[in-house]
Amino acid sequence: MTEQTLSNLLHENRRFEPPAELAAAANVKADAYDAAATDREGFWAAAAERLSWAKKWDRVLDWDNPPFAKWFVGGQLNVAYNCVDRHVEAGHGDRVAIHWVGEPVGDKRDITYRELQDEVSKAANALISLGVGTGDPVAIYMPMIPEAIFTMLACTRIGAPHTVVFGGFSAEALGSRIEDFKAKVVVTSDGGYRRGAPSPLKPAVDEACGIASRAGHSVDKVLVVRRTGQDVAWNDSTDVWWHDVVDAASSEHTPEAFDSEHPLFVMYTSGTTGKPKGILHTTGGYLTQAAYTHWEVFDLKPETDVYWCTADIGWITGHSYIVYGPLANGVTQVLYEGTPDFPERGRWWQVIAENKVTIFYTAPTAIRSFMKQGHEIPDKHDMSSLRILGSVGEPINPEAYVWYRHVIGGDRTPVVDTWWQTETGAIMISPLPGVTAGKPGSAMTPLPGITAEVVTDEGQPVDKGSGGYLVLTSPWPSMLRTIWGDDQRYIDTYWARYRDQGYYFAGDGAKKDEDGDLWVLGRVDDVMNVSGHRLSTTEIESALVSHPKVAEAAVVGANDPDTGQAVVAFVILREEAGDGGENIAKELSDHVRTQIGPIAKPRQIMIVPELPKTRSGKIMRRLLRDVAEKREVGDTTTLADQSIMDLISAGQATSTED
Ligand code: PRX
Repeated sequence: MTEQTLSNLLHENRRFEPPAELAAAANVKADAYDAAATDREGFWAAAAERLSWAKKWDRVLDWDNPPFAKWFVGGQLNVAYNCVDRHVEAGHGDRVAIHWVGEPVGDKRDITYRELQDEVSKAANALISLGVGTGDPVAIYMPMIPEAIFTMLACTRIGAPHTVVFGGFSAEALGSRIEDFKAKVVVTSDGGYRRGAPSPLKPAVDEACGIASRAGHSVDKVLVVRRTGQDVAWNDSTDVWWHDVVDAASSEHTPEAFDSEHPLFVMYTSGTTGKPKGILHTTGGYLTQAAYTHWEVFDLKPETDVYWCTADIGWITGHSYIVYGPLANGVTQVLYEGTPDFPERGRWWQVIAENKVTIFYTAPTAIRSFMKQGHEIPDKHDMSSLRILGSVGEPINPEAYVWYRHVIGGDRTPVVDTWWQTETGAIMISPLPGVTAGKPGSAMTPLPGITAEVVTDEGQPVDKGSGGYLVLTSPWPSMLRTIWGDDQRYIDTYWARYRDQGYYFAGDGAKKDEDGDLWVLGRVDDVMNVSGHRLSTTEIESALVSHPKVAEAAVVGANDPDTGQAVVAFVILREEAGDGGENIAKELSDHVRTQIGPIAKPRQIMIVPELPKTRSGKIMRRLLRDVAEKREVGDTTTLADQSIMDLISAGQATSTED
């Protein structure tokens, strides 16, 4: 963000007070902040009491060996029991848990909590019959179909940690995750529907299993849901159809209680090196905070609300705010398989109107693209059921916030701008819809029970009106426990920078305004945020350098009006590759697609003769960002060779738009 934008943000003086009725009946009121500050552990213990524990904890927090936390020590619970069975036992078996909406128009299924209990139990029995036991890792690579949720819950029911890999990732990316996680079983489908056509998934699983096996890890079984009916290659020794083993399994399964710190899932996310990090979340603390924040931030009334989060279950938002938080709270929700604009651009608004959605949670990048299409499309649909809107994944610019509130929310709905990360597991900084007078563009303040600060390089809190680095100053229940198999990397990445203070370094820059409210500005490390998807510059650079024509590559995230940031790559070709040929940009872009996935595809690839480096050989990305954003190139005095920027600016700028 430029200084100009920053200063505009700080002069943003629009305020939106909570609607009086909502404020009066709010689940969480203003006193929660003080109560939590006075007794933080007591506050989280009360939040944990909202769940059903088979055995109560002896100690709320064990922080004796930082940064390795244990929450609700000695407690035992079952996540699937909390998300499903207990609602049936409480007499809500007939409540719809999931209104599933397939992409093909008319393809729908409503699943009650009782049906969900049967489906999850059957899937649990089927996984056991495939040899999955407590502690055995399971990988899930599926479209947005109910079976994906059944599988996640079935894993938690039997204590098998899962990793869900986003269906848009390539076979290479899936293979390296299967290998790192040592998945015993992979659950997938023949394909899913995207933009009106069946899009295959099983072939990528086959290739990924081959990649994992060449790296020394073999998968025992691949469980396949038939969704599209596409032809699939079949390996009789590993592959089994869902309809053969799950449909035939018993719907009776007694959940076993697991330790509060039992591994629940690993979510791979991009870091500042080429290798994705497996973020480990455990059972009791994660479920406590996912469920509590979902109830708190969306002022959830499970008896009457219809909730819809448009994230994919392959991301942390899908885990915490489609599967675990909402189901633990027993709400009715919408699950939609497809793209927002199929078969027409009003599809989302039609889903809201048809299902009378009351709470809607999406990403700024989607809001911006709807804004571009104009208000006429949403205006055609009756969305008067909506009462709260949420935003997640990247900074929401004030104009998009105001448009969202006005056009989608009819000026009635508070907008909650929720800041959190894969690592935090649950929402950390957000307005409360019944308490906070929202400022467009600001995530406002840490939630009750959470402590955050904006600090200088040295770890000193910045003054009001200034910017710095966002840190979390005390442990929280749904915090990551480590990086899967790499405790040292966990320490180095998150805790080393402010070791003396014991702060968690989030990797984001933020401003504290004159009122002390927080404005999260985006990443300060080599991580980009493209359409709310987290990508690492190094990971894309490694993908580029693995192409035979490439000698060296530098990737930067450039500001983009639609996607927030966009990937721009600067590439030096090997001498023997000459000018690379006329299709070089497309060739390289396709290569990144196969190595990582379509989301990592560069917007632009520039073939350059040199890269700007300091005397110590560090690439000066700031200068490359200037070029990518078509700005005048900044201070070049620390460059080893100052003529390089002229060469680059004069270089060939090659667009890679499809
Ligand atoms: O840069 C912040 C941005 O997304 C990053 C976390 O990405 P990920 O782990 O993929 O999780 C996304 C869903 C929680 C953060 O470091 N981010 C997330 N929410 C916001 C945000 N930036 C500004 N405002 C937000 N509300």
